[in-house]
Amino acid sequence: PAPGWTTRSDVVVVGSGIGGLTAALRIRAALRRRGGEAGGTVLVVTKDVLHAGSTQWAQGGIAAALGPGDSPDQHERDTLVAGAGACDLDAVRVLVTEGPDAVRELIALGTNFDHTPAGELSLTREGGHHRDRIAHAGGDATGAEIQRALIAAVEAEPGIEVIQHALAIDLLRDDHGGVAGITLHVIGEGQRDGVGAVLCRAVVLASGGLGQVFSQSTNPAVSTGDGMALALRAGATLRDLEFVQFHPTVMWLGPDSRGQQPLISEAVRGEGAFLVDFEGHRFMQGVHELADLAPRDVVAKAITRRMIETGHPHMWLDARHLGAEFWERRFPTILATARSHGVDPVTELIPVAPAQHYASGGVATDLHGRSSVPGLYATGEVACSGVHGANRLASNSLLEGLVFSRRIADVLPGELRSWADPAPDRRAAALVAADRRPEIQAAMTGQVGVLRSADGMAEATATLAKVVEAGSAPDATPDTGAWETSNVATVALALTAAAALREETRGSHWREDFPVRDDARWAGHVDVRLADDGL
Ligand code: SIN
Repeated sequence: PAPGWTTRSDVVVVGSGIGGLTAALRIRAALRRRGGEAGGTVLVVTKDVLHAGSTQWAQGGIAAALGPGDSPDQHERDTLVAGAGACDLDAVRVLVTEGPDAVRELIALGTNFDHTPAGELSLTREGGHHRDRIAHAGGDATGAEIQRALIAAVEAEPGIEVIQHALAIDLLRDDHGGVAGITLHVIGEGQRDGVGAVLCRAVVLASGGLGQVFSQSTNPAVSTGDGMALALRAGATLRDLEFVQFHPTVMWLGPDSRGQQPLISEAVRGEGAFLVDFEGHRFMQGVHELADLAPRDVVAKAITRRMIETGHPHMWLDARHLGAEFWERRFPTILATARSHGVDPVTELIPVAPAQHYASGGVATDLHGRSSVPGLYATGEVACSGVHGANRLASNSLLEGLVFSRRIADVLPGELRSWADPAPDRRAAALVAADRRPEIQAAMTGQVGVLRSADGMAEATATLAKVVEAGSAPDATPDTGAWETSNVATVALALTAAAALREETRGSHWREDFPVRDDARWAGHVDVRLADDGL
């Protein structure tokens, strides 16, 4: 639709989690260093309110080699092992070597991490880590504390403007295909209501993941893959989309529960909880040297196998021995959530099953967050910097957003594009009606979830194509629900295409018909682009 209003900002940041707000703060500081107060403006646009994204939900913490006896080299080794041969080594080196300073900077910004009685940073362990290196806050409310500190810093910075309730629709590009602006759909924000355009010289995507592509996910409702779909439509390359992480211990709320599901952090297993089946057997022992703390793809697969073998819809997590006092101090959020669903982890087993948790792939970026579209950068879950490979190591996600946003801010001010008029957009996409979303999610969870096969994915592709065709209404009134559902459909198709192409099992990508890892054929990446005639 034609924009009803137009504004300008040198840089637009899409998203307000750890990646977006770190990028906004750092870019604004760099622009001011270069040109004083008039050095350049930064606009943050976010689909809901500032804290509504995934960062706020992160429980376990943020990983960095900060403890005695730990080193970036050891963090690198654990990251590479979890990534199952698909990580980019240079990107992993950047992550683990710049990580400790980046976390110290978060502390300097005012983030209150937990400390030991001796006053040291309290560090815990999660799946795949051979050292205690996860910094946490409020016990199990790490993301909420980081989000609070970042919002406070952004609100104290007059050079950063924020528009909430603003869905990013499409990139506007100049005659050379580079960034010239972005269109938004804004709800209830005064003069800038409805569809509008922001002319700009760079866009940083920090819009998070795609959890709502699946029926059950730990991600909040806003995670509809908007940034990935926007990037695809703008001609950017997406990478590693098939590597979707399923968290092993998500509280099972019954067969009909849909949408965001309660996460039971790996840190609970890090503190001694363990998995059992319906006979009370500890089935992770003997599966991996780290048993219940194996990398999460190993644990998710073992739980799924046991569910299939026994015909039960979930397994159990036993954390009763941690005791009431420990639960209340260390995991207050999880304890309250479990109790609100009628399970008391102090006296009862917690029903758990794997659910979608994280997109390891996304918009392909270089070591400074640059995508393949000039002027378009990406950071955090929407991006694929190469650090996660086939399976992200626990608590590396907040760290990735933090480290790569800092690196974007190092280069972006020096490579800002000239102002340009947007070229007319030739692509006219029909929107998919919002009420078709459950069909897309059911196909994805059923056929492109933990277990995949060529037949299942062909069925999913056919269902998706049918839903898109039947659900598309070219003259429908565009609204957030329809735009989101169209993005869900676009990302679902791209993800399924990538997963069907990779004929091997690696990390979080588990093919029943190709059950072994095949380094001879599949050591590289699967890239996806949208051509005029399809994916
Ligand atoms: C968790 O706390 O188990 C989740 C941490 C993560 O996804 O990295």
